[in-house]
Amino acid sequence: MRITQARQWLRSARRIAVLTGAGISAESGIPTFRGPGGLWRSFRPEDLATPEAFASDPVLVWEWYDWRRGLIAKAEPNAGHLALVELEERAPAFDLITQNVDGLHRRAGSKNVICLHGDIWTLRCTVCSRARESFQVPLDPRPPRCTCGGLERPGVVWFGESLPSAAWLAAEEAARNCDSFLVVGTSAVVMPAGGLARIAKQAGAKVIEVNAGETQLSPMADAALRGPAGTILPELLALP
Ligand code: APR
Repeated sequence: MRITQARQWLRSARRIAVLTGAGISAESGIPTFRGPGGLWRSFRPEDLATPEAFASDPVLVWEWYDWRRGLIAKAEPNAGHLALVELEERAPAFDLITQNVDGLHRRAGSKNVICLHGDIWTLRCTVCSRARESFQVPLDPRPPRCTCGGLERPGVVWFGESLPSAAWLAAEEAARNCDSFLVVGTSAVVMPAGGLARIAKQAGAKVIEVNAGETQLSPMADAALRGPAGTILPELLALP
C-alpha cells in the first residue's frame, strides 16, 4: 500500500523537505489557480500577476489582490496545514517550501517556512521600495499609497520576475539534501518551483506526491497519493 510505504519513508527520513502549492489551501476555501473552480472571473493568473498588467491597469490588479486578501482573511488553516506543523515537530530536520502567498502555514504554526513567491499581506512601494505589512481588508484607498506618495504593489513575485534569491537558495539546498521530498497540492507547471521535486529525486530522495489529481510530477513520484491534502496528510502521519 503506497501510503504505508510513504509513511515509512517519512518516519525514517533524517531530513524532510515539503513543497506546497495552492491545493493545500483549497480546503480552506481559497480557490486554486488552474484547477476546476479555478480563480477569479475569466482572468488567468498569467494575465494579472505580471509587472506589465500592473503598469497598464493597477486598479484591476489591485481589485484581484484585494478580493483574494478578503478571501484569505476569512480562511482558516485546514487539517493539511496542521499535519505539516506536526510533521515539522517530529522530523529531525525539516524545511517547508511554499509557493502560496496566503500565510496559512505560518498561521497554522509552521516555523521554518520558505516563501518562494512572497506574501500577499506585504505591500511594496514602486517608488521608494519601502515594504510594509497591511492586513486592511478591503484596502482603502485602493490602490494603496506609500507615505512617500508612491503607488504600492503587492509584495508577491509576478511572472517574469525572479524569486527572492535567499529563498530560492534555501529551497534548492533543502531539495538537494533531504531524504524524503513531499510535494503537496501543486500542478508543478510554474518554474523554478516546479523543478524542485526533480532536483530532490536526482539527489536520491524519495518523492511523495499528495494531490487531488494527476500532475506532470506524478509519473516521477515514488508514491503518488491521490486525494485531498486535508485527508491524506493526517493519514500520512497516522494522526487520529
Ligand atoms: N488537495 C490536494 N491537491 C489539490 C486540492 C486538494 N484539496 N485541490 C486542488 N489540488 C491540486 C490540483 O489538482 C492542482 O494540481 O492543487 C494543484 C493546484 O495547482 P495550481 O492551481 O496550478 O496552483 P500552484 O501549483 O500552486 O501554482 C503555482 O502559479 O499562478 C502562479 O504564483 C502562482 O504560486 C502559484 C503558482
